[in-house]
This record gives sequence, C-alpha cells and structure tokens, in this order.
Amino acid sequence: MIKSLALNQSSTQIPYFDLKRQFRSLEKEIRQEINGVLESGQFVLGSKVQTFEKSFAKYLGVKHAIGVASGTDALILAFRALGIGKGDQVIVPSYTYTASVFGFMHHGAEPVFVDIDPKTFCINPDLIEKAITPKTKAILPVHLYGQAANMTAIMKIARKHKLKVVEDVAQAHGASWKGKKAGTFGDFGCFSFYPTKNLGAYGDGGMVVTNSATLAKKILTLRNLGHISFHADHSELGWTSRLDELQACVLEIKLKHLDDFNRKRYELAQHYRKNLKNTPVIFPEEVSDAGSAYHLMVARIPQGKRETLRDYLSRQGVTTLVHYKTPVHLQPFYRKQSKKSWDLPATLQTTREIVSLPLFPEMTFEEVNQVCDHIQKFYKPH
Ligand SMILES: Cc1ncc(COP(=O)(O)O)c(C=O)c1O
Repeated sequence: MIKSLALNQSSTQIPYFDLKRQFRSLEKEIRQEINGVLESGQFVLGSKVQTFEKSFAKYLGVKHAIGVASGTDALILAFRALGIGKGDQVIVPSYTYTASVFGFMHHGAEPVFVDIDPKTFCINPDLIEKAITPKTKAILPVHLYGQAANMTAIMKIARKHKLKVVEDVAQAHGASWKGKKAGTFGDFGCFSFYPTKNLGAYGDGGMVVTNSATLAKKILTLRNLGHISFHADHSELGWTSRLDELQACVLEIKLKHLDDFNRKRYELAQHYRKNLKNTPVIFPEEVSDAGSAYHLMVARIPQGKRETLRDYLSRQGVTTLVHYKTPVHLQPFYRKQSKKSWDLPATLQTTREIVSLPLFPEMTFEEVNQVCDHIQKFYKPH
C-alpha cells in the first residue's frame, strides 16, 4: 500500500480517499468517547479494548478476538503461536501487500509463492497442492481488495495435508465466503485497522481471531510481554503489541456502521461497473460465493495503457493508485535473501495492468460519474 499518498489528497478534485468526511459524520460520538477515555486515565488493556474484542468476535461469529498493535503484528503473533519458523514453508500468493509474508518470515519460515486466479486476484486453489512439500506447514490466503479467497477449496486441501491456515483479512472486514465471515475459517484470522481499511482506527491497530481457546490464550500472552496479566510471571518471549483504549473506542463506534459502509462501497462499485461496461476496463469477477467488502476498486487496464490513463486522470484531478506494482517475490528485501525464480505469469501480468480507482463509503455517485466520464473520454477522445 502507498500509505502516505492515500492520506494526503487535499489538492485533488476527486480524492482517492477522504477520511475527514467519515470523521465529520461520526464526530460528536467519537469526541465524546475519546474524552471518556482521557478522563478515565486507563489507556492500555482496559474496558474499551475488552468491549471491542467482544463486539468484533460477535460480529464475525468467532469465539475469540484479541486486539493487537497492527495487522502485521497480528500475523507475526499468529505464526509464533502456531510454532511455525525456521525450516518451515508457508504457501502464500506473491500478489499481495508485502506485509502478508512478514508474519512468518520474521520467524525464519520461507514463502512458497503460488499464482493468483487472474479473474479474482486471489490465490488460485488449483495450484496449491502442487506447491506442497514435506516442509509445508501452513497456507496463508489473502482476501485481497475485499473479496474472499475460495475457502472451501483451501480448507479441503489444508485438512487433507494437515496444514494450518492463517487468513490475511487486513482488506476484508465484513467479507464472506458462502455466508460465513472471512477470517473465521482457518486457525487464525488476522485483521488490520490501518486508517484507510474498511474498519479503520485513528492510528495503527489489528486483531487476531480464532475459535481455539488454547491459541487465544497464547496470543493474549504473546501480545502482552509474554505474560497473561501484569501480575503473572512471563511464560513466553513476548511483544508489546496491544490495541490501545483510544483506538478501541473509535473502532467500537465504527463497527456499528461497518455493514452500511460496506453496502455503500458495493453500490458505488456497481455504479463503476455499469458506467464503464462498454470500455476496455476489466473489473474482477464477482464470485457468487464471495460477498466482497469492496476494500478497493481495482480494475485492469489492458493494452499497456495503464500509465497513460493514470496520467490523464491525474490531469483531470482524479487520483489513482496501484496496489501493487511489485509482487513480493520481486521486492528487494526478498531478493536479498533468495534468488529463486518463480513461475507466476498471472501475478506478473496483473501487476502491469491494475489501477485502483477512488472508492470510499462517503464518496458520492456523482463523483463516480465524473471519474467514469473522464475514463470514457480517455478511450473516445473525439
Ligand atoms: C493484505 C495486507 N496484509 C497485511 C497488512 C498489514 O497491516 P498493518 O498495516 O496494520 O500492519 C496490510 C495493510 O497494511 C494488508 O493490506
């Protein structure tokens, strides 16, 4: 993610994202709750975090939710809790935000990259079994751009080969697969509350969810310096990775609106699809089993026209981004430690074609019309 750009759009006519609009609509309640926390003097591991953990678990239909400091930390703690590390392999798409692999690479495990289904941008389940080796310990599906990966197929493979599953749900709060919420299929679901996410804090935050009481206790311990409470001895080599009270109270308020926000994202996305139906722009397939949370409005711009279209839109005052130009297996940090070559044709082609168009719940249909008009004009200049 190109985070700094996503948050600084004041000079554009149609921003890529505008967090201030959402703040205005919830301002009174948020200021009141934040004031309450300031007055309480309790900033870490207090009642707000506990309340939000319960609400989020209930929303997802999962037994345990543990607030942590970021989505990356959620992944790091999840893989530590599973004991995955040196000598182990994890199957993961290279076509994702780079942080997806940090969770297990920090513990010394190595990625085995599997290509995506070019129609959905998610890991292609038909290619997973071929990638399994005696060292494989887990599969890490990423519910990219808000659309759930095929969890029926992934869980079937995981059960057959006795592999753990950690879902990266950083971009898919509220998404579902066959009516069940993304993040609740595997051993762990790992969420990010980075401000621009579907459920975003006013700073960093994350959540690990699980149905296992044993794994939940491990995460509770690992996030809190390796002890289960401040009075207990340290049973683990832990981290300081807790969601704080201020973020929790903001997230609790926003959670009540998440379904409405996601519905609006869906409606705006359909508006894009309808308006651009007769252009060369290609949108991802909407899989009938996947209820997308439409985190991003990503489209393919074929025939090598991606950059010229982006330049054109930029001149018209429309900001676009690219998520992501460089797949993980070509990132410098990975190349430094591995020169392995990977056969990922769909990943490579997709990174060359994709563009992220403006999409956020407070965007208006009129703004979508304007973006679409510019794209129409780009393709039919006369
Ligand atoms: C797919 C994916 N995984 C992991 C992360 C990491 O989350 P965070 O930024 O909260 O560490 C992000 C977002 O930043 C993401 O988009």
